[in-house]
Amino acid sequence: MDGNGRWARAQGEQRVFGHHHGVRAVRETAEGCAELGIGYLTLYAFSTENWNRPKSEVDALMELLVQTIGAEIKTLMDNNIQLLAIGDLDSLPAKCHAQLNEAIKITSLNSGMKLILALSYSSRWEITKAVRDIAHKISEGKISYEEITEETIHNHLCTAGFPDPELMIRTSGEMRISNFLLWQLAYTELYITPVLWPDFNREELYKALIDFQKRERRFGMTGEQATTK
Ligand code: IPE
Ligand code: MG
Repeated sequence: MDGNGRWARAQGEQRVFGHHHGVRAVRETAEGCAELGIGYLTLYAFSTENWNRPKSEVDALMELLVQTIGAEIKTLMDNNIQLLAIGDLDSLPAKCHAQLNEAIKITSLNSGMKLILALSYSSRWEITKAVRDIAHKISEGKISYEEITEETIHNHLCTAGFPDPELMIRTSGEMRISNFLLWQLAYTELYITPVLWPDFNREELYKALIDFQKRERRFGMTGEQATTK
């Protein structure tokens, strides 16, 4: 979700104004995906690098997070959405962490879409943590290094148990991954739109999905193999 700051600046407003307007896009995207029967939606809401922004912006984002999670529990329940989170959640302010945990608990029995918030998340942080956890298990004799497979690594990432994303949408036209799900995106289709996040809506979501439906996903195979599979 990128472009909140530029969206606000373009109208002569403070960056935080854009973050507030981004919440509508979050709601519309989550509802739109849930209606379509999409199983998992991961939103990159705050990266480990975002902590380096001015304190006033970080504080405003954390406050917005607390408010939004509280206010949107009804939306989650109405749409049978289960809320989950990935990232260094212990680094979030206590109030934020508590609100997040409460929403996770309240929605835990919802059987529809899983909405995963990436908060204080970065892929390098996640992979480093996974390596450390695996090394620790080896040092305790719980697994041997020869047993490490791709599955072992998958199981030690924050996304353990989730399927790899099929489509990644990035708004605001930036042509980069920005430390997001580097392992998991190996064969994900990328869709980058110039639309700024606060302007993203159902129509833009459908455009991305229609574009995705036209892709031929080959996973390293030939086109012939992929279409007869
Ligand atoms: C994305 O919008 C929101 C967060 C990272 C929290 P930005 O704040 O990155 O907006 P731009 O990129 O400055 O326009
Ligand atoms: Mg940005």
